Amino acid sequence: MSYIITGATGNIGRRVVGRLLEAGIRPRVLTRDAEKARKSYGEHVDIRVGDLSDPASLRPAFTGGSTLFLVNAGPDLAARDAAAVQVARAVGVTRVMKLSSLDVEQEVGTGVWHARGELALRESGLSFTFLRPSGFMSNALGWAPSIRGAGLVRTSTGEGRIALIHPDDIAEVATHALLRWDYEGQALRITGPEALSYAEMTARISAVIGEPLVFQSMSDQEARALFVARREEPEMVAALLSIWSAIRGGRLDTVTETVRHVLGRGPRSFEAWARENAASFRDGSG
Ligand SMILES: NC(=O)c1ccc[n+]([C@@H]2O[C@H](COP(=O)([O-])OP(=O)(O)OC[C@H]3O[C@@H](n4cnc5c(N)ncnc54)[C@H](OP(=O)(O)O)[C@@H]3O)[C@@H](O)[C@H]2O)c1
Repeated sequence: MSYIITGATGNIGRRVVGRLLEAGIRPRVLTRDAEKARKSYGEHVDIRVGDLSDPASLRPAFTGGSTLFLVNAGPDLAARDAAAVQVARAVGVTRVMKLSSLDVEQEVGTGVWHARGELALRESGLSFTFLRPSGFMSNALGWAPSIRGAGLVRTSTGEGRIALIHPDDIAEVATHALLRWDYEGQALRITGPEALSYAEMTARISAVIGEPLVFQSMSDQEARALFVARREEPEMVAALLSIWSAIRGGRLDTVTETVRHVLGRGPRSFEAWARENAASFRDGSG
């Protein structure tokens, strides 16, 4: 098998690449910036320059590969998934694992885009696995500036809960399933161990860093202003608002046993993630 990893310089892709390397496999990585990939991996991977928004650039990058780990992001991701799958099939790739989202099941936020991407892959005739994680624990790094600056976390999620998942668990499940290809045609619905409210997550970070923190609810309008200030694209602002609103309405509190079924151990806890990332939340971390 030869593995092609897109999003290989990103949060999940780089963790998948790391695990493939540990398994003695030299993957091929797709990037728009060879230097960025070289800084991460040196000579340990085969670097191919290509852009998922430019299907012609994918053809040489995918040729000769057999299994594709496909990460696409943003409002155009469904069209990019469809184009990548088409190129993959044309050049002889036979298996595709798509990093999707559990939100496809509630048709919420980016889940709407991922559902269309999944459909393109399902209809391609290629062998596929969908990886459907809940929200990533690493999203909580977005709270670091307001925690450091004001001891504060603010969201519009109200008292709603979500079982965020550790990025390492996503990558470990992905790599396990990539190497064995034993979840063909299935969706791996993966979450963290426990659905927590944002106030509860704030309290857990507070306990880990040993500093008092406050959680404050904010309105949808305030949340919109926050996302706009982060320079998110308008479609992404709308997607993020709908995710927070769905959490508030109790629609995204699913907890699954899939990590345990796949890996034979439970998923990592939010506390464990907070401990690993404590320095980001402490004053003086920059
Ligand atoms: N955050 C969450 O809570 C959550 C939950 C469920 C699902 N998801 C899904 O997870 C995915 C994001 O994964 P992530 O956080 O690992 O991504 P990420 O850290 O944002 O990394 C994005 C990666 O995509 C690559 N990339 C971006 N545009 C590209 C293009 N036009 N052509 C080729 N490569 C491109 C970048 O590579 P280069 O810069 O090297 O080209 C980079 O490695 C999204 O589909 C999102 O919907 C996220």
